Amino acid sequence: MSMVNTFSGSSLEVLIDARQIASRVRELGEQISNDYRGRTPHLVGVLMGAWVFMADLIRSLSVEATVDFLGIQSYLAGTTSSGEVKITKDLDASIAGRDVLVVEDILDTGHTYHYLQGVLSAHRPASVKLVALLDKPARRVVPVEADYVGFPIPDVFVVGYGLDYNQQFRRLPEVRILGESGDRQIG
Ligand code: IMP
Ligand code: MG
Repeated sequence: MSMVNTFSGSSLEVLIDARQIASRVRELGEQISNDYRGRTPHLVGVLMGAWVFMADLIRSLSVEATVDFLGIQSYLAGTTSSGEVKITKDLDASIAGRDVLVVEDILDTGHTYHYLQGVLSAHRPASVKLVALLDKPARRVVPVEADYVGFPIPDVFVVGYGLDYNQQFRRLPEVRILGESGDRQIG
């Protein structure tokens, strides 16, 4: 099986390695480019988790794209979603008439994207779609779906490739499962 590292008492088993991520991101880029051929999608990255994915995704597109970022806080600390979503950084540019493609690191309970759909559609974009690198369908509370999913994953808490646990582990080039060990409480 995959390699296990430990960081201060947590196990970090590799779930998706860097090569798998790179090849799936290339496929997503091709699919999105085909679907948006002749248009210029407006990529809206959801901070903080999505920026590593978005940086790779945009380089796999063969259509022009514009970018903006939205700051969202749905996890104040720990790994449990409160269902409370707060905007910490608003969009810089108008999305009226634009083909908005929301870029998320992971679709979990669905609270964040459900909230975003409301906020974004109020600004009259031509379309709103979602690309999520990861999807945890078993965790869904609000019935929303991503239009493009990199990898469906089981109900585990993952870090790396931009995803964090209390700001740790974003730098890891692969997606790893943050396992419980010692006195750490997960989930
Ligand atoms: P949702 O609102 O529950 O769908 O949560 C979406 C957000 O929760 C994601 O954009 C992440 O920031 C965070 N999140 C959910 N699951 C994980 C995880 O396994 N690792 C790190 N962050 C996560
Ligand atoms: Mg997020």
